[in-house]
Amino acid sequence: MSSSTRITKAVIPAAGLGTRFLPATKAMPKEMLPVVDEPAIQYVVAEAARAGLSDVLMVTGRSKRALEDHFDRVPSLEATLAEKGDTEKLRRIQQATALGDIHYIRQGDPRGLGHAVLCAKLHVGNEPFAVLLGDDLIDERDELLRTMIDVQQRTGGSVIAVMEVEPEAISAYGAADVEEVEGEDYVRVKKLVEKPAPEEAPSNLAVIGRYVLHPAVFEVLERTAPGRGNEIQLTDALEELATRDGEGGGVYAVVFRGRRYDTGDKLSYIKAVVTLACDRGDLGPELRPWLKSFVAGLD
Ligand code: G1P
Repeated sequence: MSSSTRITKAVIPAAGLGTRFLPATKAMPKEMLPVVDEPAIQYVVAEAARAGLSDVLMVTGRSKRALEDHFDRVPSLEATLAEKGDTEKLRRIQQATALGDIHYIRQGDPRGLGHAVLCAKLHVGNEPFAVLLGDDLIDERDELLRTMIDVQQRTGGSVIAVMEVEPEAISAYGAADVEEVEGEDYVRVKKLVEKPAPEEAPSNLAVIGRYVLHPAVFEVLERTAPGRGNEIQLTDALEELATRDGEGGGVYAVVFRGRRYDTGDKLSYIKAVVTLACDRGDLGPELRPWLKSFVAGLD
């Protein structure tokens, strides 16, 4: 394999139980929660497609059938909309099925993010690939994934995305210790720690949910022991690759300064929906003035 193998595959872990959103997620995958009028997962698959990743493997689990149904065609619905002449809705439902080839594999026993990525080993094979976490939405005006793919092709290693957060917020993320690479638009990762206490964090650079990985990560994951939360952590495998020389070694980070919407907990999910709705041409013009008067009426 050469480091310039074109990257076409994306892995989207989607086996999480979504307990933060109960009871909404009792019978529905959290990935299907609507962000304005599209399920959160569709934003992520669309982002992968825009970056040229047309082969998507979703790592799912029990009670996730709705994901497969959503990305499948419904000929009877399409025919009804066509008959009614509702071309706009027809276009929007066809969008979800035209995003690429979506494959599914089940992570029978969810043992952490690292384990979910390892489930993709056979499908991915010996090529670099992307991992997109469904809780993070990246604004389509900010081209993060394409930049990361480009850095992977130039370095031949693995690439993460990091974002500056308030120091006390770092315990919700992987934290990266990085150093500059002269003349480059990326940095080199020296150390990674999964969800450190703020006083133990090497920096306030938080790992966000986009990765472009060298396939060497699989062999490392196979022997990565459970870490934080007794789960097999992707962060721990990348920490090992960061200090490795030669084929598959080296981890680099793109520092993201664009717009990221976290849909992983209730409060940030609500903020994401409101922010994205304000930006929409069909909703923003009425929503923005209403929001202003609503806010003015708050104590
Ligand atoms: C995962 C990773 C963590 C990363 C985060 C980004 O954690 O383990 O390193 O910072 O995603 O969203 P999770 O949020 O799944 O607990």
